[in-house]
Amino acid sequence: MKVINNFSFTVIVGFVTLFIFCVGGDRLSAQTVWLDQLDLGAATQGFGTPRSNKSVDGKPLSIAGKIFERGFGSHSESSLTILLEGKALSFMAQVGIDDEVKGQKPAAEFVVYGDKKKLWSSGVMHLGDTARTCSVQLAGVQKVELVVTDGGNGNYYDHVDWVDAKFETTGVTKFKSYSPVATEPYILTPAPKAEPKITGAKVFGVRPGSPFQFLVTATGDRPMNFSVNSLPKGLKINPQTGLITGKLSKSGAYIVTLQANNAKGKAVRKFRIECGDKIALTPPMGWNSWNCFASEVSADKVKRAADAMVKSGLINHGWTYINIDDFWENHRGSKDQSLRGKFRDESGNIVPNSRFVDMKGLADYVHGLGLKVGLYSSPGPWTCGGCAGSYGYEEQDADSYAKWGFDYLKYDWCSYGHVINGLPDNDPAKVSSLSYKGGSELSTAMKPFKVMGDYLRQQPRDIVFSVCQYGMSDVWKWGGSVGGNLWRTTNDITDTWVSVKNIALDQDKSAPYAKPGNYNDPDMLVVGIVGWGNPHKSRLKPDEQYLHISLWSLFSAPLLIGCDMEKFDDFTLNLLTNDEVIEINQDPLVKQAVCLQTMGELRIYVKELEDGSRAVGFCNFGLDIADISYKDFPKLGINGKFIVRDVWRQKDISNIDTGRDELKLKVPAHGVVLYKFIAAK
Ligand code: GLA
Repeated sequence: MKVINNFSFTVIVGFVTLFIFCVGGDRLSAQTVWLDQLDLGAATQGFGTPRSNKSVDGKPLSIAGKIFERGFGSHSESSLTILLEGKALSFMAQVGIDDEVKGQKPAAEFVVYGDKKKLWSSGVMHLGDTARTCSVQLAGVQKVELVVTDGGNGNYYDHVDWVDAKFETTGVTKFKSYSPVATEPYILTPAPKAEPKITGAKVFGVRPGSPFQFLVTATGDRPMNFSVNSLPKGLKINPQTGLITGKLSKSGAYIVTLQANNAKGKAVRKFRIECGDKIALTPPMGWNSWNCFASEVSADKVKRAADAMVKSGLINHGWTYINIDDFWENHRGSKDQSLRGKFRDESGNIVPNSRFVDMKGLADYVHGLGLKVGLYSSPGPWTCGGCAGSYGYEEQDADSYAKWGFDYLKYDWCSYGHVINGLPDNDPAKVSSLSYKGGSELSTAMKPFKVMGDYLRQQPRDIVFSVCQYGMSDVWKWGGSVGGNLWRTTNDITDTWVSVKNIALDQDKSAPYAKPGNYNDPDMLVVGIVGWGNPHKSRLKPDEQYLHISLWSLFSAPLLIGCDMEKFDDFTLNLLTNDEVIEINQDPLVKQAVCLQTMGELRIYVKELEDGSRAVGFCNFGLDIADISYKDFPKLGINGKFIVRDVWRQKDISNIDTGRDELKLKVPAHGVVLYKFIAAK
């Protein structure tokens, strides 16, 4: 018998160990990949952030009274894509609605797609349903998508859990979750040139006798000199700032020529002043405190926002309003002493809270910068945040706003449901539970806005009236008749893809009602640092933000920035200063774009512009790049020879004859290509 020497022994033991590790060991440890081990940050969801081994609110995962150690806590509508590359055999999970939303009425449906094919669905689930078992075979599947829909009743309180969720694999130990939507910001808007270029609205409405304030804006090197040819009597322009002020006593339309000069050259542009009943002849553009500061707003923050609008250069692109939202009034029960105090003085005049000691001074400050200033109230006894509303004091409040010098009022339904139901004015518990209850009768829904609309119109200054009741009773059909210049068509927006997408897809029905002086308001912009008092970078990806701004421009929507303007990054600033995009929004014809063609998840929105050209948004709501040769121009009402201009890049990209040519298009996932079709001469 041959004796094994030391060296051979070591080699044999080594091989055996390696064999056990590769065959047995790998099998034991590598065949299960838990969902919670993946990067869940790639998921998109309707609210909050995706959580590993926790509910969306950060609590232990719990379905129908049972606690689960492992899983993915999310919120509908949610989607998570995982690259499997044919290396998964199956996926198993339990799904259900998390118990943390007790008392609410969530509904959601869990769906698994493999390479776009529906492989499994839970059916609609409700709170308290025991977890349902998901078990799907995945052999050969390249990509799996875990989706949770809103169950058909909106996504309120849809806190949803995938628990004990795992893949059996062919041997791999990891999978990559990924978002097909690009995450790196990229800049499209070219920097403004040194020569002057006049920006902003091309038409301005004012009522006879009202103080006139319009800032002529331009990009280009400073110093700049502004002038106007044939400015009507009663108005004057400050040549250094471009601010036109004064008063017009007679109704009528005046066509004037604006001029801006600097060392590099000169720009001229026709401008129409319409003195009559109508104001806000183009959609209001500005900023509102809510999406960024919420209940933390103060006069100091408002002043700083106004300063930032100037310093950032936004003012040179037509951005105008600085609007204070809720929480300038005193609160009915806050522990924050700065919000506690008398709601009204002995004569019934509204008393601002201690953060806003000098409302007139604040308005003067904002006006002094060439900007305008707005305020917020509710037709009910309380605002949505629980501060004093205008109920019973509408006339006095309208007088106060005008006396202080405000130019804009957002009037927010909230506790008016409480008035309709005849409950005691000061019962906060009841107020909040009824706060979103609408009036069943049209006249009930219209009444409080008509009351305030009339008082605003009686003021000796022009006050833009923003009706806010979340789109109840088809407000677009009557908002103008109660004096509204704009009306919300939706519940509150959040900085999620789901929110922006759902709002966008819901706008077509109200589109025919938009016209100069009357706008559908799909809510404020969610770009930059937003957060309702809890600041964070907008969760919208860069392409989603391009799509958001493009759509709101196509919609002739009011453009109200909702971020901290002291913290702009280059991307956000670039997004908000593209004059050709803004020009689409401010087009004097005010024809709100509608979707004229759908190709899969690509929706094509068309807006007719005053000069006869058309703005066309190729909007990709899907997760795949839309790579197409487009030729259905007649469906868009575009026939003949056109110059096609890429609006974001501010570049002509081709000449087409719609009867002959095709247009090559590559629209990123959740992104947009925004073109203008200009008739070729
Ligand atoms: C409602 C409105 C918001 C904001 C808040 C303030 O939710 O829709 O835009 O004004 O109230 O409390």
